[in-house]
Amino acid sequence: ARRNKLVVANWKMYGSLALCRETINQLNHIIQPGADLIISPPAPYLSELGRLAQKTGIHCCGQDVAAQQNGARTGEWSATMLAELGCHHAIVGHSERRQHHREDDLLIAAKAQACIDAGITPIVCIGETLDERNAGQLERVLGQQLDALLATAGWREAIIAYEPVWAIGTGKVATPAIAQAAHQFIREYLAKTDADAADEMMLLYGGSVKADNATALFAMPDIDGGLIGSASLEVHSLVRIYQAAS
Ligand code: G3H
Repeated sequence: ARRNKLVVANWKMYGSLALCRETINQLNHIIQPGADLIISPPAPYLSELGRLAQKTGIHCCGQDVAAQQNGARTGEWSATMLAELGCHHAIVGHSERRQHHREDDLLIAAKAQACIDAGITPIVCIGETLDERNAGQLERVLGQQLDALLATAGWREAIIAYEPVWAIGTGKVATPAIAQAAHQFIREYLAKTDADAADEMMLLYGGSVKADNATALFAMPDIDGGLIGSASLEVHSLVRIYQAAS
Protein backbone atom coordinates (compact mmCIF):
# COMPACT_ATOMS: atom_id res chain seq x y z
CA ALA A 1 0.00 0.00 0.00
CA ARG A 2 1.08 3.57 -0.57
CA ARG A 3 0.94 4.89 2.96
CA ASN A 4 1.25 8.57 3.83
CA LYS A 5 3.93 9.66 6.27
CA LEU A 6 2.88 10.90 9.69
CA VAL A 7 4.69 12.92 12.35
CA VAL A 8 3.15 13.06 15.81
CA ALA A 9 4.57 15.58 18.28
CA ASN A 10 4.03 14.30 21.83
CA TRP A 11 4.81 17.16 24.19
CA LYS A 12 4.25 15.02 27.29
CA MET A 13 3.90 17.38 30.31
CA TYR A 14 5.81 20.22 28.70
CA GLY A 15 4.92 23.24 26.60
CA SER A 16 2.85 26.37 27.03
CA LEU A 17 0.23 28.43 25.23
CA ALA A 18 3.14 30.32 23.67
CA LEU A 19 4.54 27.06 22.27
CA CYS A 20 1.10 26.24 20.82
CA ARG A 21 1.10 29.56 18.96
CA GLU A 22 4.73 29.34 17.83
CA THR A 23 4.38 25.75 16.62
CA ILE A 24 1.29 26.46 14.52
CA ASN A 25 2.79 29.68 13.16
CA GLN A 26 6.00 27.99 12.03
CA LEU A 27 4.57 24.70 10.74
CA ASN A 28 1.40 26.06 9.21
CA HIS A 29 2.84 27.02 5.81
CA ILE A 30 5.06 23.99 5.23
CA ILE A 31 2.35 21.31 5.43
CA GLN A 32 2.48 19.02 2.37
CA PRO A 33 -0.19 16.62 1.08
CA GLY A 34 1.97 13.48 1.48
CA ALA A 35 2.81 13.99 5.15
CA ASP A 36 0.48 14.60 8.07
CA LEU A 37 1.35 16.47 11.25
CA ILE A 38 -0.37 15.93 14.58
CA ILE A 39 0.40 17.82 17.78
CA SER A 40 -0.36 16.21 21.12
CA PRO A 41 -0.07 18.87 23.84
CA PRO A 42 -1.06 18.44 27.49
CA ALA A 43 -4.87 18.26 27.72
CA PRO A 44 -5.37 21.83 29.05
CA TYR A 45 -3.94 23.18 25.76
CA LEU A 46 -5.99 21.01 23.39
CA SER A 47 -8.82 23.45 22.95
CA GLU A 48 -6.58 26.41 22.12
CA LEU A 49 -4.30 24.33 19.90
CA GLY A 50 -7.31 22.97 18.05
CA ARG A 51 -8.59 26.50 17.53
CA LEU A 52 -5.21 27.74 16.25
CA ALA A 53 -4.83 24.73 13.96
CA GLN A 54 -8.20 25.18 12.23
CA LYS A 55 -7.83 25.12 8.42
CA THR A 56 -4.05 24.54 8.66
CA GLY A 57 -4.13 20.79 8.00
CA ILE A 58 -2.43 20.27 11.37
CA HIS A 59 -4.43 18.19 13.85
CA CYS A 60 -4.48 18.00 17.63
CA CYS A 61 -4.40 14.73 19.55
CA GLY A 62 -4.96 13.58 23.13
CA GLN A 63 -2.04 12.06 25.05
CA ASP A 64 -4.41 9.63 26.72
CA VAL A 65 -8.12 8.88 26.94
CA ALA A 66 -10.46 7.00 29.24
CA ALA A 67 -11.84 3.58 28.34
CA GLN A 68 -15.37 4.88 29.04
CA GLN A 69 -17.35 7.57 27.20
CA ASN A 70 -18.42 9.28 30.46
CA GLY A 71 -18.74 8.57 34.17
CA ALA A 72 -17.72 9.61 37.67
CA ARG A 73 -14.01 9.53 36.83
CA THR A 74 -12.31 12.65 38.16
CA GLY A 75 -9.25 13.62 36.18
CA GLU A 76 -10.14 11.68 33.04
CA TRP A 77 -11.64 12.61 29.69
CA SER A 78 -13.30 10.62 26.98
CA ALA A 79 -12.71 10.07 23.28
CA THR A 80 -16.08 11.71 22.59
CA MET A 81 -14.80 14.88 24.27
CA LEU A 82 -11.61 14.81 22.23
CA ALA A 83 -13.68 14.39 19.07
CA GLU A 84 -15.81 17.37 20.07
CA LEU A 85 -12.63 19.52 20.24
CA GLY A 86 -11.70 18.47 16.72
CA CYS A 87 -9.10 15.87 17.68
CA HIS A 88 -8.93 12.98 15.23
CA HIS A 89 -6.48 10.95 17.32
CA ALA A 90 -5.46 9.96 20.84
CA ILE A 91 -2.29 8.29 22.04
CA VAL A 92 -3.00 5.25 24.19
CA GLY A 93 -0.68 2.94 26.10
CA HIS A 94 2.38 5.15 26.09
CA SER A 95 5.13 3.43 28.09
CA GLU A 96 4.99 6.29 30.60
CA ARG A 97 1.31 5.47 31.21
CA ARG A 98 2.16 1.77 31.45
CA GLN A 99 4.95 2.52 33.93
CA HIS A 100 3.59 5.34 36.12
CA HIS A 101 -0.11 4.51 35.93
CA ARG A 102 0.18 0.72 35.72
CA GLU A 103 -1.84 0.51 32.54
CA ASP A 104 -1.96 -3.00 31.15
CA ASP A 105 -2.62 -4.40 27.69
CA LEU A 106 -6.31 -5.04 28.40
CA LEU A 107 -6.98 -1.48 29.59
CA ILE A 108 -5.04 -0.09 26.64
CA ALA A 109 -7.06 -2.21 24.23
CA ALA A 110 -10.27 -0.94 25.85
CA LYS A 111 -9.05 2.65 25.43
CA ALA A 112 -8.23 1.98 21.78
CA GLN A 113 -11.73 0.59 21.21
CA ALA A 114 -13.28 3.59 23.02
CA CYS A 115 -11.49 5.86 20.53
CA ILE A 116 -12.76 3.89 17.57
CA ASP A 117 -16.30 3.91 18.98
CA ALA A 118 -16.08 7.73 19.22
CA GLY A 119 -14.77 8.07 15.67
CA ILE A 120 -11.15 8.92 16.45
CA THR A 121 -7.99 6.98 15.72
CA PRO A 122 -5.99 5.50 18.60
CA ILE A 123 -2.20 5.66 18.35
CA VAL A 124 -1.37 2.52 20.30
CA CYS A 125 2.13 2.40 21.78
CA ILE A 126 4.01 -0.85 22.21
CA GLY A 127 7.64 -1.66 22.87
CA GLU A 128 10.08 -3.73 24.89
CA THR A 129 12.42 -2.79 27.73
CA LEU A 130 16.17 -3.26 27.40
CA ASP A 131 16.07 -6.28 29.74
CA GLU A 132 13.38 -7.91 27.60
CA ARG A 133 15.36 -7.28 24.41
CA ASN A 134 18.58 -8.59 25.95
CA ALA A 135 16.76 -11.69 27.16
CA GLY A 136 15.60 -12.45 23.61
CA GLN A 137 12.00 -11.60 24.49
CA LEU A 138 11.37 -8.90 21.85
CA GLU A 139 8.94 -10.90 19.72
CA ARG A 140 7.14 -12.40 22.71
CA VAL A 141 6.59 -8.97 24.29
CA LEU A 142 5.44 -7.29 21.08
CA GLY A 143 3.24 -10.27 20.25
CA GLN A 144 1.55 -10.13 23.64
CA GLN A 145 0.94 -6.37 23.35
CA LEU A 146 -0.44 -6.83 19.84
CA ASP A 147 -2.69 -9.75 20.84
CA ALA A 148 -4.66 -7.48 23.19
CA LEU A 149 -5.23 -5.00 20.39
CA LEU A 150 -6.08 -7.76 17.90
CA ALA A 151 -8.84 -8.91 20.25
CA THR A 152 -10.71 -5.61 19.76
CA ALA A 153 -13.31 -5.21 17.02
CA GLY A 154 -11.70 -2.07 15.63
CA TRP A 155 -7.96 -2.88 15.55
CA ARG A 156 -7.71 -2.24 11.81
CA GLU A 157 -8.48 1.45 12.46
CA ALA A 158 -5.52 1.90 14.82
CA ILE A 159 -2.11 3.41 14.26
CA ILE A 160 0.68 1.57 16.06
CA ALA A 161 3.72 3.32 17.51
CA TYR A 162 6.71 1.10 18.18
CA GLU A 163 8.65 2.71 21.00
CA PRO A 164 11.46 0.65 22.49
CA VAL A 165 11.47 1.75 26.13
CA TRP A 166 15.28 1.95 26.15
CA ALA A 167 15.18 4.59 23.40
CA ILE A 168 12.60 6.92 24.99
CA GLY A 169 14.12 10.10 26.34
CA THR A 170 17.56 8.49 26.49
CA GLY A 171 19.14 9.86 23.31
CA LYS A 172 19.74 6.20 22.35
CA VAL A 173 17.85 5.95 19.08
CA ALA A 174 17.28 2.54 17.54
CA THR A 175 19.32 2.24 14.36
CA PRO A 176 17.19 2.28 11.21
CA ALA A 177 17.91 -1.45 10.78
CA ILE A 178 16.87 -2.34 14.34
CA ALA A 179 13.73 -0.22 14.09
CA GLN A 180 12.86 -1.62 10.65
CA ALA A 181 13.26 -5.20 11.92
CA ALA A 182 10.77 -4.56 14.73
CA HIS A 183 8.34 -2.79 12.39
CA GLN A 184 8.54 -5.64 9.91
CA PHE A 185 7.86 -8.12 12.70
CA ILE A 186 4.81 -6.08 13.78
CA ARG A 187 3.43 -5.84 10.25
CA GLU A 188 3.94 -9.54 9.62
CA TYR A 189 2.33 -10.37 12.96
CA LEU A 190 -0.77 -8.31 12.06
CA ALA A 191 -0.79 -9.84 8.57
CA LYS A 192 -1.36 -13.29 10.09
CA THR A 193 -4.84 -12.02 11.00
CA ASP A 194 -5.50 -9.72 8.02
CA ALA A 195 -2.86 -9.16 5.36
CA ASP A 196 -4.64 -6.27 3.63
CA ALA A 197 -5.22 -4.39 6.88
CA ALA A 198 -1.60 -4.95 7.94
CA ASP A 199 -0.42 -3.53 4.64
CA GLU A 200 -2.48 -0.37 5.11
CA MET A 201 -1.83 0.29 8.78
CA MET A 202 0.54 3.05 9.77
CA LEU A 203 3.43 2.06 12.01
CA LEU A 204 5.32 4.91 13.68
CA TYR A 205 8.72 4.73 15.32
CA GLY A 206 9.31 6.60 18.59
CA GLY A 207 12.37 6.94 20.78
CA SER A 208 14.94 9.74 20.53
CA VAL A 209 13.95 10.76 16.98
CA LYS A 210 15.83 13.99 16.17
CA ALA A 211 16.24 16.17 13.12
CA ASP A 212 19.52 14.40 12.33
CA ASN A 213 18.28 10.80 12.43
CA ALA A 214 14.70 11.20 11.14
CA THR A 215 15.47 10.93 7.41
CA ALA A 216 17.20 7.55 7.71
CA LEU A 217 14.46 6.14 9.96
CA PHE A 218 11.59 7.38 7.78
CA ALA A 219 13.26 5.87 4.68
CA MET A 220 12.73 2.34 6.04
CA PRO A 221 9.97 0.46 4.20
CA ASP A 222 7.85 -0.35 7.28
CA ILE A 223 8.37 2.95 9.13
CA ASP A 224 5.56 5.34 8.25
CA GLY A 225 6.68 8.23 10.42
CA GLY A 226 7.50 9.06 14.00
CA LEU A 227 6.19 9.76 17.48
CA ILE A 228 8.44 12.55 18.64
CA GLY A 229 8.98 13.55 22.26
CA SER A 230 11.65 16.04 23.31
CA ALA A 231 12.64 17.12 19.79
CA SER A 232 9.04 18.22 19.15
CA LEU A 233 9.34 20.92 21.84
CA GLU A 234 11.96 22.73 19.76
CA VAL A 235 10.04 24.25 16.85
CA HIS A 236 13.01 24.30 14.49
CA SER A 237 13.75 20.63 15.04
CA LEU A 238 10.07 19.75 14.60
CA VAL A 239 10.15 21.62 11.29
CA ARG A 240 13.17 19.59 10.16
CA ILE A 241 11.63 16.30 11.30
CA TYR A 242 8.41 17.12 9.45
CA GLN A 243 10.46 17.99 6.35
CA ALA A 244 12.23 14.62 6.65
CA ALA A 245 8.80 12.99 6.37
CA SER A 246 7.56 15.09 3.45
O1 G3H B 1 6.12 9.81 22.61
C1 G3H B 1 7.29 10.02 22.35
C2 G3H B 1 8.31 9.09 22.77
O2 G3H B 1 8.12 8.67 24.08
C3 G3H B 1 9.72 9.48 22.45
O3 G3H B 1 10.21 10.48 23.30
O4 G3H B 1 11.58 11.54 21.52
O5 G3H B 1 11.81 12.25 23.91
O6 G3H B 1 12.65 10.01 23.16
P1 G3H B 1 11.64 11.11 22.96
